[in-house]
Amino acid sequence: MTDKISTKESMGTQYVINYLNEERRITVSPEETILEASLKADIRHPHVCGSNARCSSCRVVVERGIENCSERSEEAGRVATKLGFGPELRLACQTTVKGDIAIRKPKMDATDIEIASLTIAESGENKIGEEKQLTIAFVDIEGYTAFTESVQAYDLVHVLNRYYYVMGKVIRKYNGQIIDYYGDGLLAVFGFKDPEQMAHDGVAAGKAMMKEVESFNDYLHGFLKHKFKIRVGIHTGKVIVGNIGFKGMRKLAVIGDAVNFASRIDHANKELNTRFLVSAATYEKVGGDFSFVKEHEVEVKGKKGVHKLYELKEM
Ligand code: FES
Repeated sequence: MTDKISTKESMGTQYVINYLNEERRITVSPEETILEASLKADIRHPHVCGSNARCSSCRVVVERGIENCSERSEEAGRVATKLGFGPELRLACQTTVKGDIAIRKPKMDATDIEIASLTIAESGENKIGEEKQLTIAFVDIEGYTAFTESVQAYDLVHVLNRYYYVMGKVIRKYNGQIIDYYGDGLLAVFGFKDPEQMAHDGVAAGKAMMKEVESFNDYLHGFLKHKFKIRVGIHTGKVIVGNIGFKGMRKLAVIGDAVNFASRIDHANKELNTRFLVSAATYEKVGGDFSFVKEHEVEVKGKKGVHKLYELKEM
């Protein structure tokens, strides 16, 4: 079946938009955007940013007639680059047509829309460049490799984006900042906003993430019959903070022995069969504020001597 003919009526040239997953066919004039035509036809079509190319909630997949769609505007091109859109994904609020098309609205919930909006809004600019005392937290997902091998690539990226979004909200709540993602984990730092509270914020955020992952698991189990277990390693020490990278790919980085040590502490969870360890430097700052169940003495790879690590009480 064709999407049927362009018509010339008294109202002017009209084309057909076939909504494949709505079983609706509507008309659109060359002056109208796809979104305007949808709303006029009472089709529920999200447009969170008010047609300003800032949210991507109006996106559609053009299944047929991509050659009839207008070129991407500069703003739409920016969004497409940020979100990695293929040529068939278009912002309905920015696209007009000069012939018939068939489209599909991808399934997106409010969380997906918020993730996309935050991605678009990220400036990537941060001008700090100095030596600083910070609390550094590594958080990794147990059994990550086996999980990645058991799911489809698209589902994996979708789930990880959602997981990092949820964790990112917790970290932000406790004045922290995510610095990096490593497939199975993330690196966050605390102390930029409230240096006095950095260790407390870091440990509190770790505890909150442990709790939050339980709610996340309701979603993950419903979606892929899987549950995440996370491990946390925290240290407080001096690091060098700065923007690193080539033009267009510069990002904030933290460098130094303290960062490596925090990573080793997280790895020590595996050997000790624990889930949450902090260094003596962090423990000394927060000891009275949280319940610790055990003191471990371990040799840490890459660092001489025996080091005391403190195990936080299970939530
Ligand atoms: S409505 Fe926000 S990008 Fe189209």
